[in-house]
Amino acid sequence: MRSLLRLWPYVRPVRVRLFTAAFVAILASCLGLVIPLVLKWMVDGPVADRDPGGVWLGALYLLLLGIAEALLFGFRRWLVARPLAGVEAAMRADLFRHLQRLPVAFHDRWASGQLLSRGTTDLMLLRMFLAFPLTFLVVNTATILVGFVLLFAQDWTLGLVLLAPAVPLIILCSLFETKYSVVARRAQDQVGDLTTVVEESVLGIRIVKGFGRHRSQARAFKAMAHRLRDTELGKARLLAGIWALITAIPELAIGAALVLGTIQVADGTLSAGTLVAFLSTALALRWPVESIGFLLAVSQESATATDRYFEVMDVAEERGAAAVREGAPATAPGMVFEGVAFRYPDADPDSPPVLSGIDLHIRPGETLALVGGTGSGKTTLTALVPRLHEVTGGRITLDGEDIATMERSRLRELVSVAFEEPTLFSATVGENVTMGAADADEAQVRRALSVAQADFVHELPQGLDTEVGEQGLSLSGGQRQRLALARAVVGEPRFLVLDDPLSALDVHTETLVEAALRQVLARTTAVVVAHRPSTVMLADRVALLSGGRIAAVGTHQELLRDNAEYAWLMSGAESGPAPGRKSPAAPTSAPAEQVPAEEGSAR
Ligand SMILES: Nc1ncnc2c1ncn2[C@@H]1O[C@H](COP(=O)(O)OP(=O)(O)OP(=O)(O)O)[C@@H](O)[C@H]1O
Ligand SMILES: [Mg+2]
Repeated sequence: MRSLLRLWPYVRPVRVRLFTAAFVAILASCLGLVIPLVLKWMVDGPVADRDPGGVWLGALYLLLLGIAEALLFGFRRWLVARPLAGVEAAMRADLFRHLQRLPVAFHDRWASGQLLSRGTTDLMLLRMFLAFPLTFLVVNTATILVGFVLLFAQDWTLGLVLLAPAVPLIILCSLFETKYSVVARRAQDQVGDLTTVVEESVLGIRIVKGFGRHRSQARAFKAMAHRLRDTELGKARLLAGIWALITAIPELAIGAALVLGTIQVADGTLSAGTLVAFLSTALALRWPVESIGFLLAVSQESATATDRYFEVMDVAEERGAAAVREGAPATAPGMVFEGVAFRYPDADPDSPPVLSGIDLHIRPGETLALVGGTGSGKTTLTALVPRLHEVTGGRITLDGEDIATMERSRLRELVSVAFEEPTLFSATVGENVTMGAADADEAQVRRALSVAQADFVHELPQGLDTEVGEQGLSLSGGQRQRLALARAVVGEPRFLVLDDPLSALDVHTETLVEAALRQVLARTTAVVVAHRPSTVMLADRVALLSGGRIAAVGTHQELLRDNAEYAWLMSGAESGPAPGRKSPAAPTSAPAEQVPAEEGSAR
C-alpha cells in the first residue's frame, strides 16, 4: 500500500479538487447519518403525540436531506472527473517519454506487451482508483467513525455489541490484503504476457501465415487466456469470501443489538425513538462497512499497478555526457576505436565479451569496410558509434573527441546510421526520410533519394506524401532499405555508419546505388558493414572482424592474398569449413537466416 504514496507528485496538481471532493462526499455521507436523528425526533415527538402536522414536517426534512445528499454526491463526481483524466494523461506521457530515453539494452530485455499493458490498463486502473475507491476509503472510514460516535451517544451498551465484530473483521481484511496482492500482481503480469503474444503475432503475421502457424499461435493464446481467466477467478473467489464475511458478521451484530434493544425498550430503560434511530444508523453504516472489502481489493490492484508503473520509471535513463577526462591522450582526427571492448549487459558474466581490444583508425574522408562471419559482432560494433550501447572498455573518438563526453544530440548530428533491418514508421515517405535531418529541404531530400536510388517514390500514388503503413510493410524489402539509406545520407553527416545497407537489392540496383553512394562516401568518414565483394569495393580499406577482434586490416587485394578467412568469406564458397575460422555461426542469428531477408525484417 505504501507504493500508492508514490502517486503523490502526479496527484499534487489536482489535490485541491480531490480534497474538496472528499470533503463534499464526507458531508453528503454525514447528511445521510442525520436522517436517523430526524426519525428519532419523529418517533419520540409527533408520532408519540399523534401530531400529523409534525409528521409531515419530519417527512419534508427527510426529503430535503435526501435531495441535498444526492446533489452533493453529484457535485463530487463533477469535481474529480476532468482533473483525474489529466493525471492519467500526464502519467502516460511521462511513461512514453521515459521509454524513449531508456537504453536499448532495456528494450532488449523487456517484452513490449508488458510495457504496453503498463501504459494502458494499469494507468486506467489508477485513474479509476483515484476517482472513486480512494475517496471512498476516506469517506467511508470517516462515515463509520461519525456513525459510531452517534451510536455510542445513543446507547453505549448497544454500541459495544456492534463494535465487537470490528476486531475479527480487521484481522480478516489484512489477511485478505496479503493474499489478494499476490493474485492481483499475477493477473496484471499475465495481461502483459497476453498483450505481448497479440503484438508479436500481429507484427509477425507474415511468418505466422507463411509457416501455417496460426493454429498453434491460437492455441498458445488460448492457453494464456485460460491462465488469466483462472487467475481472475481466483481473485473473484477471494473477493467473494471476504465480502461474504464482511456482510454476514455485521448483520449478526445488528440482529443481536435488535434483540437486546427490544428487551430494553420493553423494560422501559430505552425510548422507542432511540432504538429506531440506533438501528437506522446501524443500517446506514452497512454500505460503508460492506464496501470496505471491495475498496481494499481495488486499492490493492492499484498499488500493484503503481508498482508496475514505477518499475519502468525507476530504470535509469541513458547516461548523458560524461565529464571530459583530463589528461586523456589526444587522438587523431577521423573515427578512432581505442581498445574498445563490449559485453551485452544481460550476457553471462563468464562468457567472453562480444568485442575486445578493437583498435581502428578511420581517417577523415576514408571509408572502412567491416567484414566478418555472421555473429562476429559487426552490428554490435556499429551500434557503439551512435551510443546505442555504451562501450564497456576503451573509447571511441570522433575528430579527437570521446563520444562518451558528447551530448547525445550533438552525437546524433555528427553520426548517421542505417541498420540491417530497415525500420520505417507509419508516416509519409517524406517524413521517414527527413527523420534523418529535421531541417532538410526538398532539394536535399531529392538528392538523398537519388543517392539511394529510391526514385521509385515519385511513382507512388502521392509521391513523397504517400503513407507507408505500419513499419513500412506496404513497401518491398529493397524499397524499405533504400529509404533507410536515404534517411541516413539526407543530412550529409560527417560520419556515416551503414550496416549492410544493400543486402536486399538486386545486382543492378545495387550497382546503381553503389555508384551514387561512392560520391557521398567520398565526403564523409564511414564504416560500412559488407558481406559481398561488391560492397567492399566501396571502401578504401577493409577490417576483418573475427571472434570479437580485428584480425586484419588492409586493402581488399591485400587481405584476399594474405588472409585465408577473408578469402574464404569473399569467395562465396557454399561448402567446406573455413580455414582458420574460429567462431561458427552464433545460435541467435541462425533462425533469422531461415527466413527470406524481407521477412526477417518484419520480425
Ligand atoms: N541484444 C543482445 N543481447 C545479447 N547478445 C547479443 C545481442 N545482440 C547480439 N548479441 C550477440 O552478439 C554477437 C554478435 O552479434 P552481431 O549482431 O553483432 O553479429 P553480426 O556480426 O552483425 O552478425 P550478422 O552478420 O549475422 O549480422 C552474437 O553472438 C549475438 O548472439
Ligand atoms: Mg549484423
